Amino acid sequence: TTKMMLDCDTGVDDTMAIMYAALHPEIELLGMTTVWGNVDVPLATRNTLRVLDLVGRNDVPVAQGAAGPLTGGHAEFAYNVHGRDGQGNAGDDKPVRAASSQSAVQQIIDTVRAHPGEVWLVPVGPLTNIAAALAVDPELPSLVAGVSLMGGTTMAPGNVSPVAEANIWHDAEAAAAVFRAPWKIIMAGLDVTMKIIITPEHSERLAAGGEVGQYMARIMQHYGEFYRDNSFGTWSCAMHDTIAVAAAAGTLDVRLAPVVNVEVDTTGGPGHGQTIADLRGVYRGYPEQEGAHCTVLLDVDDRIADEVVDLIAAQA
Ligand code: BDR
Ligand code: CA
Repeated sequence: TTKMMLDCDTGVDDTMAIMYAALHPEIELLGMTTVWGNVDVPLATRNTLRVLDLVGRNDVPVAQGAAGPLTGGHAEFAYNVHGRDGQGNAGDDKPVRAASSQSAVQQIIDTVRAHPGEVWLVPVGPLTNIAAALAVDPELPSLVAGVSLMGGTTMAPGNVSPVAEANIWHDAEAAAAVFRAPWKIIMAGLDVTMKIIITPEHSERLAAGGEVGQYMARIMQHYGEFYRDNSFGTWSCAMHDTIAVAAAAGTLDVRLAPVVNVEVDTTGGPGHGQTIADLRGVYRGYPEQEGAHCTVLLDVDDRIADEVVDLIAAQA
């Protein structure tokens, strides 16, 4: 099994990632932290607690993290994509347990230090909490199994600017620090996450499942409409965050992806938030690059969509 700490800005695709991490028999979800991004951080925390309750995982500790970018500045949210409640305007107001009294940074550090070399950090929102933990405990890179993140893009266009993806663009300084640190990184960027699509047929399969599947099907309707109107032309959802979870867990084969250097543009110009991956080796089978520690997913097996949908639909 894979020990995991999942860090979410819990909107709609994050919810699917939480369900997958919480329910997959090969994933040991040790804890969750929340971060601003799709929604404000109190709402991300509330949604995280609600989803864990729904899947019967109130044993998973949840610590609330950063409310805005690492170096200050304006926090922008994406209610138009994820709904005003971050759950496609289709969530519920069921009361949830309290979050942990620990900070997200402390929970990340304590959990990693309790299992040296074993824990995968899986951030699927802005990288603020991870960069903050790194600043407090600079030894983290030698103590984790790796960092598998949803963020960035290399060959595909961005989604908040021509070249920048939302999670990186939201806090480019934090992202730059995370990519610079000498840990093993798996980058699930838009290159792959825009190719793994949840279709109307998947949605029907979820809706025909139990309470968990029905909840997921319900909250993704608005999200699919956003993608219909802004990207794909027909109702469908990009899976995004679950890809990073599956890559860490080894339920997705990442062995063919190149390991290269990646830098984040923090210049504030038109390239701000771009993940600049050195993929020049594409013509020569990606020869080894000095200091390279970032596995950039360019293609993944699309059976992951069926696998995730079936796992969630099978829940009571
Ligand atoms: C990423 O941004 C958020 O909207 C999604 O949850 C995902 O993590 C996609 O760019
Ligand atoms: Ca996210």
